[in-house]
Amino acid sequence: MAQFRILLLAAILMFSGVVVDAYGPGDNGYVGLRDDYYGTSCKDVETVIKKAVQAELAKNLKHAAGVLRMHFHDCFVEGCDASVLLDGPGTEKTAHVNEKLAGYEVIDAAKAAVEEVCPGVVSCADILAYAARDSTVELNGTAWAVQGGRKDGTVSLASRAEAELPPPEFEVSQLIDSFARRGLSVRQMVVLSGSHTVGVGHCDKFVSRLYNFNSTFFTDPTIDPAYATELKNICPQHTFNTTIEVFMDVITPTSAGVFEANYYKTLQEHKGLFTSDQSLFDDTRTKATVTSLLNNERFQKEFGKAMRAMGRVGVKTEGQIRTNCRAVNTY
Ligand code: HEM
Ligand SMILES: *[C@@H]1O[C@H](CO)[C@@H](O)[C@H](O)[C@H]1NC(C)=O
Ligand SMILES: *[C@@H]1O[C@H](CO)[C@@H](O)[C@H](O)[C@H]1NC(C)=O
Ligand SMILES: *[C@@H]1O[C@H](CO)[C@@H](O)[C@H](O)[C@H]1NC(C)=O
Repeated sequence: MAQFRILLLAAILMFSGVVVDAYGPGDNGYVGLRDDYYGTSCKDVETVIKKAVQAELAKNLKHAAGVLRMHFHDCFVEGCDASVLLDGPGTEKTAHVNEKLAGYEVIDAAKAAVEEVCPGVVSCADILAYAARDSTVELNGTAWAVQGGRKDGTVSLASRAEAELPPPEFEVSQLIDSFARRGLSVRQMVVLSGSHTVGVGHCDKFVSRLYNFNSTFFTDPTIDPAYATELKNICPQHTFNTTIEVFMDVITPTSAGVFEANYYKTLQEHKGLFTSDQSLFDDTRTKATVTSLLNNERFQKEFGKAMRAMGRVGVKTEGQIRTNCRAVNTY
């Protein structure tokens, strides 16, 4: 009965033109975020950002995956407040976990273009959220509506990034817990992990699965044996090179990646690169979700909704709108 009432309410809201997300903290007016937030204050902002992002990615399409990951690393540390963009000793970007994070110049270019048309109006946190969407679309992903209204933070600590970002050794229980602390569901966690359909990982992030795995198995038995051999050839024990890039999605291993549901297929084939990937298929709590997301249309649709939910994590209603995304305003 209660469920029926919620469905009825959802139906009424939908027919009245109000956007209702199937899950997440709720879309409408939540911490002041809105679709078309800059509709009157900077009406062309999304077009301006998209053009700047496209021009930057034309120089280096690999930065598309970088920007998508950057938004995640921003939101999970101090909330989505552009804390990841701040330069300086000991800031988040100096953390080991952010060592390979790339594409900051994409955000600089977008910010510069936005300041030309509406100076002092659009936050860096919002620019990063729009740019993450635009980058996904450049890799053939389906677009979603991005909410605006985030303020920029002033705190950025490498130690917080190290402590808050989930490492690749995490298994399902730890992943569920990490996402739940940000109000994100188990399903949203599995959907957002689908980002690993694009981009690359480095040997140091998964060698522990290849050699001296545990007291019973030298190599993680959840890795397809032929794939394990391939990874060992790329990353020799003790002498691996941490600048070598390994495509996370072995089905479509193109230089920048293609944003589609193939990630879930790699998990089914036991070719997930990290424990945090493969365990999603090997755990009863998430296996059925992995299988259902093999459907690309469903994946794309749910990904956009999950990104909207991730984009609401820890959002600040008080704060600044930085002039330079790399530094806090001092005035
Ligand atoms: C579920 C927990 C997650 C873990 C443990 C994790 C871990 C990692 C690791 C270890 C890498 C490779 C880093 C390297 O070797 O340089 C990586 C890359 C990446 N991650 Fe995640 N990640 C997670 C979730 C996410 C989410 C939620 C997103 C985006 C919404 C995301 C987007 C990406 C992208 C796009 C890359 C490729 C970056 C590039 O090629 O430059 N990840 N992730
Ligand atoms: C990109 O998406 C279109 C349709 O949305 C599809 O026809 C095309 O094959 C995709 N390209 C790649 C490289 O996957
Ligand atoms: C080693 O890893 C396998 C696969 O994850 C697991 O089933 C097994 O319990 C582990 N053994 C020990 C001793 O930790
Ligand atoms: C590591 O790999 C990179 C990229 O493939 C290469 O340029 C570099 O020379 C390698 N370094 C060593 C020490 O082999």
